[in-house]
Amino acid sequence: MTFTITTPLYYVNDKPHLGSVYTTIICDSIARYKRLLGEKVIFITGVDEHGLKIQRTASEKKVSPQSHCDEISDSFIENWKKWEISFDKFIRTSSEHHANIVNEFYQKVIKSDDIYMGIQKGWYCVGCEEFKDNPDNSPLAQCPIHKKNLEWRDEENLFFRLSKYQNQIEELINKEDFIEPKERKNEIINFVSKGLKDFSISRTNLDWGIKVPDHNSHTFYVWFDALLGYISAISMEESKNTLEDSIVMGWPANIHIIGKDILRFHAIYWPAMLLSAGISPPKKVFGHGFLTREGQKMGKSLGNILDPEILLTKYGNEAVRWYLLKDIALGNDGDFQNKRFVDIINNDLANTIGNLLNRSSSMSRKWFNNKTPNLEDKNDSKIKDYANKTIDKYISFFEKYKIDLASNEILKFAIFINLYLNDKQPWTLIKDDKNIEDVKFIIYNVLESCRIIGLLLQPILPNLSCNILIQLGQLNNDNKSWKEKLNWGLLPLDYELPEPKPIINKLDYD
Ligand code: MSP
Repeated sequence: MTFTITTPLYYVNDKPHLGSVYTTIICDSIARYKRLLGEKVIFITGVDEHGLKIQRTASEKKVSPQSHCDEISDSFIENWKKWEISFDKFIRTSSEHHANIVNEFYQKVIKSDDIYMGIQKGWYCVGCEEFKDNPDNSPLAQCPIHKKNLEWRDEENLFFRLSKYQNQIEELINKEDFIEPKERKNEIINFVSKGLKDFSISRTNLDWGIKVPDHNSHTFYVWFDALLGYISAISMEESKNTLEDSIVMGWPANIHIIGKDILRFHAIYWPAMLLSAGISPPKKVFGHGFLTREGQKMGKSLGNILDPEILLTKYGNEAVRWYLLKDIALGNDGDFQNKRFVDIINNDLANTIGNLLNRSSSMSRKWFNNKTPNLEDKNDSKIKDYANKTIDKYISFFEKYKIDLASNEILKFAIFINLYLNDKQPWTLIKDDKNIEDVKFIIYNVLESCRIIGLLLQPILPNLSCNILIQLGQLNNDNKSWKEKLNWGLLPLDYELPEPKPIINKLDYD
């Protein structure tokens, strides 16, 4: 069984902004979690390169669309490497392989008699690459997202018979967990209940796209083309690379993680296209919220972008990951505030987790000959129970993609252990020889808790997790699975500890 997870395929009108980093980090963390459970993961990301928006961007730069796409697509790959994104496939929709899959797919849709020629009239947002519902017939109609003027279109296009799939789509979107979160599901149910209208899947007067067979002046509509990237990605660079091969290797996708603005495409148009071609729809579509600054969506056209490269250089990958994954519930909007960011990193990572590890391993080294303590009865049942409950809750949250709550479970556990340490005060007890067994007991339980914290952080903060485990001499020290390693009590006794180093530096306010 494979677990296929996708980010949206990002438009290459510009290099990645924090919004695209956000979605990609979420998928990365889920992909890492599933791999730790031993699942075969196909983590797909990539770029959406065709359409009017990209053609115009290239022409403003006075370069060909292809060379513009090459440049921006490289910058996405470079960025994802810097952010240590563990993607398996990076699909470019301008690739020949992708065009072949689109053509194969189109033939299947034609066979189902779902394509016809018609006239498309309406207001178009080039930023969204989407026709918008009647905005008062005013020539200055604006897109509510991009705040840019809409453009009037009246042209001959090929249409897809979406209306034919009304019942099947209704059934699909009403399923218990096809659309998440729940509030978004209701928006889609409402929209579909008004009746689905056929939509155009080709454009005339647009060169930068995949040519529609037998219709020379038409290119495929960018969304019809791009959504298929999720399938073409699976068989790219494989020896077998047809539509059928992709499907056998990893379809249906287990989850598409996308922003709330493109939910309709993923929860309605895309499944209907797939049904028409006789292919299963994805299992789940999750529409996350927007990252805002001053309450507004971040985006190039709004000019309020927080440059992720600056954040990365200044604060490091793990700090940004923690803020985005732990502080924002997947599905809700999240406002990026500098002071809050610095406070969270310093409190959670540097003080609560970093200091706990640092002081407990220093005490152990100092009092037990640079080693973990050696003792007979090592388990404090209260701490062990807390750890096991933390693990259970963490797993059940992760399974529901509630990464913020899973992260908070780790933090709550670390806070509990800090309180335990402060309450027991081993630094006072050690002054009297008769307390030595108690001190060993306390230190062992705290160090073992740090090991569990390190393991649980693995899919969320892979580097920090690695540093914690190194400090405990516990990185890749056996062949046990991640789940087996989560069993309480596996930290060896009387075991050499490396010299403690701070695992994360405190951040300064600007
Ligand atoms: N190319 C289409 C997707 C095609 S998928 C087959 C597209 N691209 S996009 O680059 O404009 O947007 C990609 C994703 O980034 C969308 O899910 C969008 O919601 C998300 N975000 C864009 N700005 C965002 C924020 N400020 N915050 C969070 N995510 C946002 O749409």
